[in-house]
Amino acid sequence: MEFTWLSPFICLLLYFQAICSPSLPFPILCPHDQGLALLQIKKSFSTSTSASFVHHELESWKEGTDCCSWNGVECDTETGHVIGLNVSGRMLHGALNSNSTLFSLTHLQTLDLSNNDFSGSHIPSLFSHLLNLTCLNLSSSNVAGQVPSEISLLSKLVFLDLSFNENLVLETTSFTKVVQNLTKLRELSLSTVDMASVALHSLMNLSSSLSSLRLVSCALQGKFPDEIFHRSNLQLLDIEDNKDLTGSLPRFNGSSRLWFLALSFTSISVYLELDFFSSPHSLKELYLSSCNVMGSNFAFLGNLTQLTRLDLSGNNFNGQIPPSLGILEHLDFLDLSNNNFSGLFPFVVCNLTKLQFLSLSNNKITGIIPSQVGNFSSLNQLYLFENFLKGALPPSLFSLPSLKYIFLGNNLFSGHLSQFQYNSSLKYIDLSSNLLDGPIPSSICQSCQFG
Ligand SMILES: *[C@@H]1O[C@H](CO)[C@@H](O)[C@H](O)[C@H]1NC(C)=O
Ligand SMILES: *[C@@H]1O[C@H](CO)[C@@H](O)[C@H](O)[C@H]1NC(C)=O
Ligand SMILES: *[C@@H]1O[C@H](CO)[C@@H](O)[C@H](O)[C@H]1NC(C)=O
Ligand SMILES: *[C@@H]1O[C@H](CO)[C@@H](O)[C@H](O)[C@H]1NC(C)=O
Ligand SMILES: *[C@@H]1O[C@H](CO)[C@@H](O)[C@H](O)[C@H]1NC(C)=O
Ligand SMILES: *[C@@H]1O[C@H](CO)[C@@H](O)[C@H](O)[C@H]1NC(C)=O
Ligand SMILES: *[C@@H]1O[C@H](CO)[C@@H](O)[C@H](O)[C@H]1NC(C)=O
Ligand SMILES: *[C@@H]1O[C@H](CO)[C@@H](O)[C@H](O)[C@H]1NC(C)=O
Ligand SMILES: *[C@@H]1O[C@H](CO)[C@@H](O)[C@H](O)[C@H]1NC(C)=O
Ligand SMILES: *[C@@H]1O[C@H](CO)[C@@H](O)[C@H](O)[C@H]1NC(C)=O
Ligand SMILES: *[C@@H]1O[C@H](CO)[C@@H](O)[C@H](O)[C@H]1NC(C)=O
Ligand SMILES: *[C@@H]1O[C@H](CO)[C@@H](O)[C@H](O)[C@H]1NC(C)=O
Repeated sequence: MEFTWLSPFICLLLYFQAICSPSLPFPILCPHDQGLALLQIKKSFSTSTSASFVHHELESWKEGTDCCSWNGVECDTETGHVIGLNVSGRMLHGALNSNSTLFSLTHLQTLDLSNNDFSGSHIPSLFSHLLNLTCLNLSSSNVAGQVPSEISLLSKLVFLDLSFNENLVLETTSFTKVVQNLTKLRELSLSTVDMASVALHSLMNLSSSLSSLRLVSCALQGKFPDEIFHRSNLQLLDIEDNKDLTGSLPRFNGSSRLWFLALSFTSISVYLELDFFSSPHSLKELYLSSCNVMGSNFAFLGNLTQLTRLDLSGNNFNGQIPPSLGILEHLDFLDLSNNNFSGLFPFVVCNLTKLQFLSLSNNKITGIIPSQVGNFSSLNQLYLFENFLKGALPPSLFSLPSLKYIFLGNNLFSGHLSQFQYNSSLKYIDLSSNLLDGPIPSSICQSCQFG
């Protein structure tokens, strides 16, 4: 060990630390070469125009100090090797080059480079030198081009996030290798990566320990394998906004652990039937906007009592708003907009007292807004525009303490507006195209806009 001659001093130091502040961590000293490598990394992103930001953001990285004490650097408690590097959101600016000293930090286990600006450079295949990586995050870091197939050599990866990089492409051969070799993956996020060429049946080879899969806006084409929905370890599935993605959502039984399911803006068929969720289900968030929903039997909601967010907008549903919604007492987000719902304003939603967001806009709902809307003590946003609602606006609407955005345009409301009871938190109010008259009450809002 290179610091052998120092050992007595270190022991002495430890002794004093143990006496004076037993809670201090073991003193770790950063290996010289790894400290230098980190300084090189800092330097390589300092030459950009935003250099002043970089110095500010990584100002603790100073020559002659122990790199294990630097912001975002984690060292192994025994060997001192740099095993974690987190520069997420440090405003690094500049290309990620193959000659970067980053790739000499082979002891790294966690590498978070997300929320930086690597100037549209490619992901160097040299990432495959970091064989001990369990977590790699390049989300929102402005990398582009082909994802190198060498990523599949990182067989210890548990978390892989390449999402939200414009112009990043993942070819089917690379994806197949990734899927077959990363057998420990628990969280995979490739949202907005262009995966148009990927053969979807290869998804079936994804690690059985996968608990979170995010493939939003990936240009996926073809049939999504049923088998994925039935994965007993899968807890989050977000495949929104893939217009050419087909397949069908199978019935669920009690064995699923899914709490988040988002299929909005896909062509996946969802057959709503009575026993769609045949037993009380763990689902908390369900997003089925503008997908291929068939049938309109909402009784299945009866087994989704844990739901906090539900989006059924844009599906051409007919008839009354389903009374079975009333049982979903934990809902804080409900979007039923852009359907063909008719009938009276659904009193049942007034039972959902935790709602923060409610949209019934663009339907054919008639009748008055009941005074029970005063029950929405947390309501933040209310969208009722484009309906056939009429009558006076209930005073209770103007005493909601949290209301910020309210859109009531294109209805048949009439009469005068009430004064607000409390100091209003309103930021925007739209009352356009109604039959209202009288003055606008002075209390309605201090600093808001009118539509
Ligand atoms: C990196 O740091 C940010 C905060 O700066 C934190 O949100 C993020 O979770 C960290 N990443 C990892 C992998 O721990
Ligand atoms: C690394 O490569 C880039 C581009 O290929 C080059 O501009 C830069 O000078 C190189 N840096 C070092 C330290 O060799
Ligand atoms: C990688 O991890 C293994 C097992 O934990 C360890 O034996 C090895 O030394 C590590 N390699 C590096 C370069 O840190
Ligand atoms: C990657 O980083 C982004 C932004 O910091 C974060 O939202 C995301 O959860 C991270 N991904 C993983 C898998 O931890
Ligand atoms: C899979 O990972 C192992 C190392 O665990 C490596 O030897 C092998 O080449 C990898 N295969 C592919 C297809 O990347
Ligand atoms: C899954 O991987 C195995 C090799 O590990 C391969 O033989 C099989 O074809 C793959 N299946 C799919 C659906 O890609
Ligand atoms: C639930 O469905 C899965 C997959 O179809 C099946 O393996 C399992 O046996 C079913 N469990 C029950 C309790 O029906
Ligand atoms: C809810 O689950 C129970 C138990 O599996 C089942 O008997 C019932 O039909 C389900 N209810 C609905 C509305 O699907
Ligand atoms: C509304 O809530 C009340 C009391 O909380 C409850 O008795 C009633 O059954 C609920 N109505 C519906 C339709 O769920
Ligand atoms: C909407 O509902 C009305 C009845 O309220 C019905 O006549 C009409 O055909 C429906 N429109 C569509 C597009 O389903
Ligand atoms: C809703 O408000 C009405 C009065 O406006 C009240 O009688 C009723 O108990 C409230 N319901 C809930 C569930 O809070
Ligand atoms: C309303 O705001 C004024 C001043 O901004 C404050 O004095 C008053 O206590 C507030 N009233 C309520 C009911 O919050």
